[in-house]
Amino acid sequence: MKDVIMETVQLNKAFSLGETIYAVNNVNIKIERGSMNVIIGPSGSGKSTLLSLLGGLDRPMSGDVLLEGQSYRALSEDQLALLRRRKLGFVFQFFNLIPHLTALENVMLPLQFINTPHKAAKRRGLELLERVGLAKRSRHLPLQLSGGEQQRVAIARALANRPAVILADEPTGNLDTKTRDEIVALFQELNQQEKQTFVMVTHDPSLSKFADQLIVMQDGCVVSP
Ligand SMILES: Nc1ncnc2c1ncn2[C@@H]1O[C@H](COP(=O)(O)OP(=O)(O)OP(=O)(O)O)[C@@H](O)[C@H]1O
Ligand SMILES: [Mg+2]
Repeated sequence: MKDVIMETVQLNKAFSLGETIYAVNNVNIKIERGSMNVIIGPSGSGKSTLLSLLGGLDRPMSGDVLLEGQSYRALSEDQLALLRRRKLGFVFQFFNLIPHLTALENVMLPLQFINTPHKAAKRRGLELLERVGLAKRSRHLPLQLSGGEQQRVAIARALANRPAVILADEPTGNLDTKTRDEIVALFQELNQQEKQTFVMVTHDPSLSKFADQLIVMQDGCVVSP
């Protein structure tokens, strides 16, 4: 592998509610810079748990995640939060936009978190909305947008800080077929033209079709495809 941007080392996460569930069991994966990576597997196989460990949203029981050589284990909670803000973008199934902020304000939010001056944040926000085809929707609130448009805003927001990696959990899971195809095409463009690295959990074969790496999970383990 040429240029590994993110990797896991013997990653483990278990939940104990009476019986112990090994949600992520000794996972070692490598993500190459600029690649599209798709995680598939049956319900309950540990896909979302793995993604939240990659995102530093949750801590493993043992093992580590490295992003551009930086170990998560070595970071305090505050440092990990800073790493998330600077280096990662997140896209979720239910968009997770802030309801009382406009499309533009939602996209500007991650930039304000890293203290980008207002004018620069606004310029970049408008540029990103244009990039995802929503130049004319900047003043709309999330509820004044269709599902596909809301997901475009969420993608623009994920791109705002020029993240090393975008993590997405079933990003097309809540969209109709036509809108889904448009969002898939947008992901493909961002990956192929702009070399954006993605790690996505999806059941959508149109997304896994163009994956550079397919990560198949079963009972918390990565199995060969
Ligand atoms: N916070 C939690 N507490 C206890 N058990 C959990 C918790 N989160 C996940 N689990 C368990 O860990 C296992 C993996 O869950 P996970 O959500 O990662 O699966 P998934 O592959 O994303 O499934 P789906 O396709 O349904 O979203 C499941 O058995 C689940 O019940
Ligand atoms: Mg899941």
